[in-house]
Amino acid sequence: MWKQAIEDALRITEANIGKFKGKFPHVSDGGTNYVLNDNNEWTDGFWSGILWLAYEYSKKEIFHEAAVKTVDSFNSRMENRVGLEHHDIGFLYSLSSKAQWIIEGDEQAKALTVKAADVLLERWREKSQLLQAWGPKDDPDNGGRIIIDCLLNLPLLYWAAEATGDSRYRELAAIHAHKSRRFLVRGDDSSYHTFYFDQETGDSLRGGTHQGFRDGSTWTRGQAWGIYGFALSYRYLKQPELLETAKRMSRYFLEHLPEDGVAYWDFDVPQTPESKRDSSASAIAAAGMLEIADMLLDSDPDKDFFRKAAADAVSALYELYSTRGEAEAEGFLKHGSYSVRGGASPDDYTIWGDYYYLEALMRLERQIPGYWYERGR
Ligand code: GLY
Repeated sequence: MWKQAIEDALRITEANIGKFKGKFPHVSDGGTNYVLNDNNEWTDGFWSGILWLAYEYSKKEIFHEAAVKTVDSFNSRMENRVGLEHHDIGFLYSLSSKAQWIIEGDEQAKALTVKAADVLLERWREKSQLLQAWGPKDDPDNGGRIIIDCLLNLPLLYWAAEATGDSRYRELAAIHAHKSRRFLVRGDDSSYHTFYFDQETGDSLRGGTHQGFRDGSTWTRGQAWGIYGFALSYRYLKQPELLETAKRMSRYFLEHLPEDGVAYWDFDVPQTPESKRDSSASAIAAAGMLEIADMLLDSDPDKDFFRKAAADAVSALYELYSTRGEAEAEGFLKHGSYSVRGGASPDDYTIWGDYYYLEALMRLERQIPGYWYERGR
């Protein structure tokens, strides 16, 4: 079944290369087409990552050529500093230039990726000891705010420490990861989407949400970012509490799934026939659980547990939420939600959902783990 799902995704991707004409997909807006942009969104690395995965799997030149073109585009995005005033530099450059470095050792791609890590570190706030997610420095609302999604941006910094020999990238990323663990994850292993700190003193203030149902609820995609993000911090730092947190957050995720195995958009939202799902959260969590399983010893019973949980999630996505058999579809997964709360693409394709679904399939079928770390690490 994995092979069939991958072939479906690659067929769609090949058709999309022709349709997108160098533009980047973000989310759909109620129909079967992606809304496109000129490489100025936080999501544009996912298209690059899909192309690199498609190339690694198939070795077809059409995917390689399109993937390299996206890296050229990310190079000019960096030169012109377009849409880089946020923490998602890690998503953008891990899956584009870092992927090219990992796959084919391209030195220019490596240099571009180090530059991206430097731009991300411009968001380090010394007084509050965190990476500011959104907005300009000293912004009254966002200046001292962390968000759980940022955990997926940290691998860019861990990688840069190894690529350059400068340990500062790793040290600051580790402080941020541990702060996230302490303040974003609650005692029952659920999570806040965001947390506020005093910008002058660094004192912890309060948890909150941006895309979740309410401040104290558990936004499903945030929980999934936590699962995968803490697992990746463990991959680099090898501190057992990080892996333990990833495992505990996974169990919370699994224990709160509805019957069909694909998450609603928030774990605290009333579950009615009208409630929206977030297929992208299930795809991210599945890829994250495969990352956890990959780091466990064969003798550890949790290895099979997390691998099976991920495989079940991917099967449910393929069987019930994919676009299989829909000739015109531009996305792989239906029923992702960008922001139900904000009324933005609440029941749509999301390019990150498609990326993590394909990454999970690649991990299941071929042990291709995406581009968060160098192979064999
Ligand atoms: N990182 C933004 C989101 O998950 O919507």
